[in-house]
Amino acid sequence: MKFFIDTANLDQIKEAQDLGVLDGVTTNPSLMAKEGITGKDNIIEHYKKICDIVTGDVSAEVISTDFEGIVKEGEELAKLHDQIIVKVPMIKEGVKAIKYFSDKGIKTNCTLVFSVGQALLAAKAGATYVSPFIGRLDDISTDGLNLIAEIRMVYDNYNFDTQILAASVRHTMHVIDCAKIGADVMTGPLSSIEGLLKHPLTDIGLAKFLADYKKGN
Ligand code: G3P
Repeated sequence: MKFFIDTANLDQIKEAQDLGVLDGVTTNPSLMAKEGITGKDNIIEHYKKICDIVTGDVSAEVISTDFEGIVKEGEELAKLHDQIIVKVPMIKEGVKAIKYFSDKGIKTNCTLVFSVGQALLAAKAGATYVSPFIGRLDDISTDGLNLIAEIRMVYDNYNFDTQILAASVRHTMHVIDCAKIGADVMTGPLSSIEGLLKHPLTDIGLAKFLADYKKGN
């Protein structure tokens, strides 16, 4: 299972990279704005900085909603760095663009996916990743994890190559449940990854080992 961090915060990206288990980064216009990164040039520079920190895939989102615009933006983004994955929204023009990019060997992440049907379309179009937003489904009393399970079943039925990237992960249990279901990737905040470290018995056990060591020295 790949671990992506879902942020545009460079300090958090560095911290996750230093842990040694990071496989990539996802961003979106909201995450960029949260870090105060606005305007095309600044956003482009920020993507380059992220690519310099990590070794894995970095999703960079287009903001156009028409086929020509998505293709133009996506081709520009893809040229920035070979780690860039063009993030395209799940809309009709987006599906057409994903097919176009797929035929050209440009990797894509189909975002804003909330149903199995949408995930099926993304896979048919040749998306590299599909991003079902599980947290946002949970927010509206719908089982986000169940969507991951259903997409897993459909993709396995037909051996689709598209990787399921569980997005809008909010906490550590989401990560664990996605792993149980067989999501290929999860993207979440640093806290959702660091939460995997925690167990009180580890802390208690370590404190005792260290105390006993001191007794014997
Ligand atoms: O990966 C998608 C993500 O950025 C959305 O997360 O927490 O805004 O639903 P959230």
